[in-house]
Amino acid sequence: MSHFTLLIGTTLGSAEDLADHLAEKLRDLGHQTVIHTSPQLDHILIKPEHFLLLICSTHGAGELPDNIEAFYQQLVQRLPELDGLRFGAIGLGDSSYDTFCAAIQKLDHQLVRLGAERIGSRLEIDVSQVDPPEQTAEIWLDQWLNQR
Ligand SMILES: Cc1cc2nc3c(=O)[nH]c(=O)nc-3n(C[C@H](O)[C@H](O)[C@H](O)COP(=O)(O)O)c2cc1C
Repeated sequence: MSHFTLLIGTTLGSAEDLADHLAEKLRDLGHQTVIHTSPQLDHILIKPEHFLLLICSTHGAGELPDNIEAFYQQLVQRLPELDGLRFGAIGLGDSSYDTFCAAIQKLDHQLVRLGAERIGSRLEIDVSQVDPPEQTAEIWLDQWLNQR
């Protein structure tokens, strides 16, 4: 059994729905989950043994959703040492934007810059092609869990 902290970046709720779905799947597998819809740096510093799963959509011209902007600013301004933190990254976006999935890319790059290790590859779901995103994310989750 492992512990998973899920941090969500969402404007319209799809990323939160997806996080709820994946958390339920993790619990069915016997893991423990906690979900934060107002992510803060402390959520990943307090429990460094937890796996972090970031699920974030993109809005504006490649911008982060408002609810996760504070978390990103804390990463950029406080520059925490994140060695030992292992994470997975799932983005929701629309490929008709040339800033496709820019928000999850920004978060991913900043975590790696601070020493965190991304497990597996980043999943970028194109909601204009994949509807609903749950099935794609479930397949990715199985592979991600096997790579821990
Ligand atoms: C106003 C608006 C701007 C968007 N901008 C982007 C963008 O820059 N890049 C991208 O990949 N997707 C963009 N999208 C698509 C959203 O990321 C996509 O619809 C996603 O599923 C929304 O997730 P949410 O419900 O969690 O907010 C935009 C959507 C809207 C409505």
